[in-house]
Amino acid sequence: MDEDISSRETGGRPAAVVAGIGTWLPPRVVTNDDLAAELDTSDAWIRTRTGIARRHVIDSGMATSDLAVEAGSRALKSAGGPDADAVLVATTTPDRPCPATAPDVASRLGLGAVPAFDVAAVCSGFVYGLAVASGLIADGIARRVVVIGADTYSTILDPGDRTTRAVFGDGAGAVVLRAGTADEPGAVGPFDLGSDGSLAELITVPAGGSRQRSTPGAPVDPGDHYFQMQGKRVFRGAVEHMAQSARSVLSRAGWSLEQVDHVVAHQANQRILDAVAEELGLARDRMVSNIEHVGNTSAASIPLALADAARAGVLRPGARLLLTAFGGGLTWGSTVLRWPIGVSAVTGP
Ligand code: COA
Repeated sequence: MDEDISSRETGGRPAAVVAGIGTWLPPRVVTNDDLAAELDTSDAWIRTRTGIARRHVIDSGMATSDLAVEAGSRALKSAGGPDADAVLVATTTPDRPCPATAPDVASRLGLGAVPAFDVAAVCSGFVYGLAVASGLIADGIARRVVVIGADTYSTILDPGDRTTRAVFGDGAGAVVLRAGTADEPGAVGPFDLGSDGSLAELITVPAGGSRQRSTPGAPVDPGDHYFQMQGKRVFRGAVEHMAQSARSVLSRAGWSLEQVDHVVAHQANQRILDAVAEELGLARDRMVSNIEHVGNTSAASIPLALADAARAGVLRPGARLLLTAFGGGLTWGSTVLRWPIGVSAVTGP
């Protein structure tokens, strides 16, 4: 038994263990030069300020659920087959305001009448989803849960906003969690989660909800249907909260920072990843990064980064990982796990 995750954390109940991981990126790639051809920006500005070189973007006619199904089916394949009894989709870009995207995804994954619902925690959604799934497993409500982070920010970005167009990309990543024990590699937890709703305006799509309704003929500024972000304040909040939350979860797990092999943080901006490393006093090479190739994919970013690092052989079985995320809400969350043995990422297309 691994003594540092004590049985107090699970109370003798089943722990959630990673059994499979899968991802999917839409085939169309938009480079910085492509953006510079239509907006007042440059490859040099975007690379220097964000570390991003390209991002994947959906074609019209495609929606978040399509990406979620592709990633979910690959995660199930990675886990050995289409067997799950709950589906969670973390997303800020659901197919529609109502109903949730997850039931459609569960049905298209061929999983039958399983519980399925969305998790709305913006870029922290995947970590929140892991926490909720762990609770379902600990309580015996489910024994095998598909947790999907899927977002298509290209559908909510202002086409004329050079800042957000440079930062965000579309994509989906998923894991299958199974009931197991807290001492086995792949066991997820404990968690640290938090929020600060007084800063909701830092990251927002103001219209389309109950506050500013999409009633035909109602005087809503069309720009209010687009994603809006106060970049500098978000930058500071991201560094502060991811570092703080990382420390809290390590203390709950009984791990020291020195024991952590890799930090897999929400891929918001390379400078944010570097600043989190500096704040924690970690060498930058312990921060997993794939932002150069995918940009900020919101809820999909952590599973995409995990799968890329696993495929590159960076995550050896048993490696100690710290996951930390920050996003609109504001929300933040962290967890730890040791990378499972014998789980290979299935990526696509
Ligand atoms: N190309 C060229 N110039 C750009 C630009 C672009 N794509 N985007 C912004 N600029 C300009 C601004 O208009 C501003 O010009 P000004 O000084 O004439 O007004 C200048 O660059 C500096 O803008 P600023 O916002 O101060 O830049 P920054 O260094 O803070 O970088 C972000 C902007 C968005 C990259 C950065 O703040 C960031 O990454 N924030 C966090 C974003 C994020 O991760 N959000 C999701 C969190 S979950």
